[in-house]
Amino acid sequence: MSPDQFSEPKQIQMQPDFYIANIPIFGRLILAPMDGLSDPSFRWITRKLGSAYSISEFINTLDYTVQRHYQGNRLRFRQAERPFGFQLLDNDPARMAAVAASMEADFHPDFFDINMGCSTHRVLTRGAGAGLMRSPELVGKCFRAVKAAVSVPVTGKMRLGIDENSLNYREVAEIAVENGCAAMALHSRTAKMSYSGEVRWEPIAELKRLLPIPVIGNGDLVTTEKARAMLDQTSCDAVMIGRVSKINPWIFSWRNREDVSPAEVWQLASYQLTEMIRTYPEGAAIFAFRKFFKAYLGPYGIGGQAMRQLLTIREETDFWTAFEALFQGLSVDTKAPNPWFDESA
Ligand SMILES: Cc1cc2nc3c(=O)[nH]c(=O)nc-3n(C[C@H](O)[C@H](O)[C@H](O)COP(=O)(O)O)c2cc1C
Repeated sequence: MSPDQFSEPKQIQMQPDFYIANIPIFGRLILAPMDGLSDPSFRWITRKLGSAYSISEFINTLDYTVQRHYQGNRLRFRQAERPFGFQLLDNDPARMAAVAASMEADFHPDFFDINMGCSTHRVLTRGAGAGLMRSPELVGKCFRAVKAAVSVPVTGKMRLGIDENSLNYREVAEIAVENGCAAMALHSRTAKMSYSGEVRWEPIAELKRLLPIPVIGNGDLVTTEKARAMLDQTSCDAVMIGRVSKINPWIFSWRNREDVSPAEVWQLASYQLTEMIRTYPEGAAIFAFRKFFKAYLGPYGIGGQAMRQLLTIREETDFWTAFEALFQGLSVDTKAPNPWFDESA
C-alpha cells in the first residue's frame, strides 16, 4: 500500500487557493462535469485523489419537473464531496429557478452551475447548453432568476461561442457576472468544434483579466505538464479536466498515467466497481463500468479476445473473476490490502 497514494487531507492546507463567493477552494484541478462519467462514485474517487470540488452531471430541469425519480443517481452526493454543486441544463429562467429552489431545499448543495457548453444537436436546437450563448440577454435572466431563488452561489460553464462568427464569450461572461455569476469555467472551443480542434488559451487569460470572479480553464489538458502550463500561462484560478480523467484519475494528484503501477490501477478500479455495484440499480453497474475499465486497461495492450470477453459479460461474479484474472496476468497481487476501502484514508 502506498502512503502517498491519496492527496493530503484538505484540513492541513490552511490557505485556500481561491474562493467561489464565500466557499474556500483548496486545489487547482477540478473534475469536469461529464454526463455518464462523473457519477457519484467517480467523483468521490477523484476527490480523494485531489480534485478540488464536485459538480454533478447536468440535470435537465425540464426532465426534473416530470420525472425526478429517473434521476436518482444524478442527485446523490456524499457529504464528504462538499463543496458540491448541481449543474442545471435548460433555457427557461423561471423553470430553472423553481427547480433550483426545490433542489436546494431537498439536497442542500453548496452551489449551482449553469450549463452553457453542451453542444449536442438536440440541446443546441432547444436553445439550452451552448445554445444559451445565442442570447446573452437570456443568459443574464437565467443567472438572475436562479440566483434570486437560492441562497448559495451560482457558477457557469461556457464555450467561446456558437461558431467562429459568434465569439461572444466576453459579452456572455460579463452579463453572467452582472447577474450574480460567482465563477466561470471556459471550455475554450466553439460549440461547432464540439470536442476537437485547437483549444485557445488566450481567451481564458482574457477572461481572467476581465472578470472579478474566479476563472477556470478547460480543454484538452491531458498531462500534468499541460495543466500546469495553462495555470501559469493564463493565470486562471483553476483548470477542469474531463476526458483524460477516465484514463488517468491520478492526474488530480498531479501524476501522469505512466507513473501509476498496475497494482494501483487494480486497487482504484476494484473500489470503483464495488461502489458502482453498491449504488447503481441491479445489473447496471457492469455496463456503466465498461467505459472505465477499457480506459484503465488501455496502456497494457490487453489482447482483443480478452477484452471482448470482458465486454460481453453481464453477470457480476463472472465479471469480477475475469477482471481480477487480467490484473493477476499483470503480476498484481489482487488479494493484497486495498487502501481505497479504508474510508479514513
Ligand atoms: C462524455 C462527456 C459528457 C459531458 N457532459 C457534460 C456535462 O454534463 N456538463 C458540462 O458542462 N460539460 C460536459 N462535458 C464537457 C466537459 O465538461 C469538458 O468541458 C470537455 O470534455 C472538455 O474538457 P476535456 O478536453 O478535458 O475533456 C462532457 C464531455 C464529455 C466527453
